[in-house]
Amino acid sequence: MPVRRQFAPGTVEAGDIRNKRVEPHYARTLIRLMAAQALAEELTATGYERALTVVCDPGLCAIARQNMAEERHHATLLYDALAEIDVSRAQAERQLIAVRRSPSFAAPRRFAENTAGELDLVMGSLSLDMTGMLIIGINYRESSYAPHARAAEIILDDETRHEDFAARALGDAVERMGRETVAAGLREWLPLAVNFFGPPGSGFTFDCLSYGLKSRDNQELADLYLAILERRLSQVGLELPALTPEYPHLAV
Ligand SMILES: [Fe+2]
Ligand SMILES: [Fe+2]
Repeated sequence: MPVRRQFAPGTVEAGDIRNKRVEPHYARTLIRLMAAQALAEELTATGYERALTVVCDPGLCAIARQNMAEERHHATLLYDALAEIDVSRAQAERQLIAVRRSPSFAAPRRFAENTAGELDLVMGSLSLDMTGMLIIGINYRESSYAPHARAAEIILDDETRHEDFAARALGDAVERMGRETVAAGLREWLPLAVNFFGPPGSGFTFDCLSYGLKSRDNQELADLYLAILERRLSQVGLELPALTPEYPHLAV
């Protein structure tokens, strides 16, 4: 059954939170959601930064450098929005100590901590920019919290470009490295990418949906991602690797 949305898109401002015109649980839910996005943006920036040290191709490096700067800017937009409601970056990060270790953060952590070459750069982009574009474009752009919706609008512009890079880089990687190598990368990265959407039907997402902080459940977005990716892959002669059905997904 669809969750009834209590707040229409863009109807809550920072002053409503500061002056406690919305219930405290709205603020708690919003803070956790924006803090998680900020951390994902920051880890993605770190992944691009690491890619710069291990990828030699000048064209790829130029794009990685630009994406790195844009991802850092996305994180800053989110931390600025949190600062408006008196949450510091340190406080936001402290909230996520456990979440950071969860399967939903495995993709950004893998990108930030272990990017070892061109294949990881392409896989990181497919796993974080394409997913980010869906999460931000479908969920956060329609957020009831106006500052989050405004940040999403700015971020989405960049993510559309990043996603375009991921699609082109995938085709180039198949040409340069061969189908087998790219297929092996996909088997490693796809479960992480799908888990990045988070668990289906969680209590946290229920609260986000009823407060209008998200429009769709994680599972719906994960299914949409898989459908888009499957089409992309078929264009370059690759298949979607099989995954276990339950969250957190693993490669079969
Ligand atoms: Fe981003
Ligand atoms: Fe991105």
